[in-house]
Amino acid sequence: MKVTVVGAGAVGATCADNIARKELCQELVLLDIKEGVAEGKAQDMMQTATLLGFDTRITGSTNDYSKTAGSDVVVITSGLPRKPGMTREELIGVNAGIVKNVSENILKYSPNAILIVISNPMDTMTYLALQSTGLPKNRIIGMGGTLDSSRFKYQLSQHLGCSPSDLNAVVVGGHGDTTMIPLIRHATWNSSPVTNFLSAEQQEKIVKDTMVGGATLTALIGTSAWYAPGAAGAALVEAILRDEKKLFTCCVALDGEYGQKDICLGVPVTIGRNGWEKIIDFKLNESEQAAFNKSADAVRNMNEVLKTL
Ligand code: 2OP
Repeated sequence: MKVTVVGAGAVGATCADNIARKELCQELVLLDIKEGVAEGKAQDMMQTATLLGFDTRITGSTNDYSKTAGSDVVVITSGLPRKPGMTREELIGVNAGIVKNVSENILKYSPNAILIVISNPMDTMTYLALQSTGLPKNRIIGMGGTLDSSRFKYQLSQHLGCSPSDLNAVVVGGHGDTTMIPLIRHATWNSSPVTNFLSAEQQEKIVKDTMVGGATLTALIGTSAWYAPGAAGAALVEAILRDEKKLFTCCVALDGEYGQKDICLGVPVTIGRNGWEKIIDFKLNESEQAAFNKSADAVRNMNEVLKTL
């Protein structure tokens, strides 16, 4: 198996590091446009191989896509990250050109690859990748909801005083501070609804803190986060390469599911060797569906911006 991670910044490098540590593939290529950065980080990671005990071969490349040839999965992290006070949406002008160019170059050498999109604004970048490559929809997966659901479980665990691993909770909708929808009514602590254990105020705070999870970290760190985004990308690579059929929330092309069409938006999907394989209907109630429709409107407006670039 071969995986490429495009973009050797903090998110890309962390994602590659996780993939290598889990030995998800024999070959791992890190590619970046900045001279020497991918080669340097690949060497640094390879020098952890004997310490961490993994056998994945990691190589770096400065923008030479021929080195990525025959990749089974490609993770796209390229583009600018957020600065404090910025929304993900403000990155569209610069990142759209980068993501389009990267997806086209990747497919020249890896026509059968499954693409995982992490670059922001993630919902619009996923839609752009789908439109510009014309790939079957199952092979384009936006990572956002996987990360947001993990952040949601973290926030819940802080209030419940429990292990995040004992929680099941998903965030659907867009990957924006105002477009994501943490579905607290559906969240469970080892199958008991979390709403049994949390006051209305606590629930409201958890939902709010989850929605601005990325912005909170950006303000603290001075740039956008990388540990959880990188790990979320690697978890999807794992589910694909091991054909796990695990349920994640991912940004995928909707064709009537959840009442939406011609848009890529976060919904629960199973992930396996064919990419995203099945959309699971969580049966939203009226207010959840209204929030989902509102989120879709905002993402659709952002997608419209693509036409002006
Ligand atoms: C985040 O929320 C990178 O968009 C990503 O941290």
